[in-house]
Amino acid sequence: MEKAVNLLKNAQKVVVLTGAGISAESGIPTFRGKDGLWKKFRAEDLATPEAFQKNPSLVWQWYQYRQELILKCQPNPAHKTIALMEQYFKDNFSLITQNVDNLHQRAGSKRVIEFHGNIFKTRCTKCNKQFLYGEYENTPLPRCPNCNGLLRPNVVWFGESLDPNILYKAFTLSSETDLFFAIGTSGVVYPAASLPEIAKSSKAKVIEVNIEKTPISYIADEILLGKAGEILPKLWDNFINEK
Ligand code: OAD
Repeated sequence: MEKAVNLLKNAQKVVVLTGAGISAESGIPTFRGKDGLWKKFRAEDLATPEAFQKNPSLVWQWYQYRQELILKCQPNPAHKTIALMEQYFKDNFSLITQNVDNLHQRAGSKRVIEFHGNIFKTRCTKCNKQFLYGEYENTPLPRCPNCNGLLRPNVVWFGESLDPNILYKAFTLSSETDLFFAIGTSGVVYPAASLPEIAKSSKAKVIEVNIEKTPISYIADEILLGKAGEILPKLWDNFINEK
């Protein structure tokens, strides 16, 4: 912990990458691990363009189930600490999340790079227009208010490419930062998993926060093992009190 505080004290620029683990303490299941979503559901049936083409209502059922679950959850102290980090480091702070749950924004983070989209946004498969949750009728098969085309969740599915602008931004930020945090991510899904590698091979120090070791641990300068909602507020308190 002391080493991590010192790394934070010496940092001019900070990048944080988060994954499903940061929202676990809010009650949102992660994807991998023993109670992970991908243990109960098949990604091929629910999170691919082919699945949506074959059975759009099944895919919508899965996303609407998750929307409802997330709406019942609240941001936890880890999300709140990251919002404080943004306030403190201002433009020298960037948050990249693989999560689609909107909890960072609800905790007060203003600039969030959503690597895999957002479950509360949709886009039309016909006219490509985007809509926020509440701007369209969330029926079993939601339709576009503009052209009546079929709406789809505005998330990245397996087999789909990421928005090249987002990818470029994330790669650039990771290669230019002094300090990179990987928080609550298993580090196995690329290209997100390459961001700590890019940071490390540039000039950054890497701090990992996770309840267990991951492939990121091999390159991490400091591994803080434990729950993000407990570790991050402690780290931040120490930093603020010592600086
Ligand atoms: P995973 O479910 O793969 O990994 C979650 C990580 O969080 C694991 O390494 C856990 O050990 C860790 N973890 C669990 N609880 C934690 C806690 N309280 N504090 C800290 N760490 C904790 O989730 P991601 O790495 O986010 O993609 O998965 C990456 C992508 O795979 C997701 O964005 C999603 C999924 O398929 C798409 O949907 C495109």
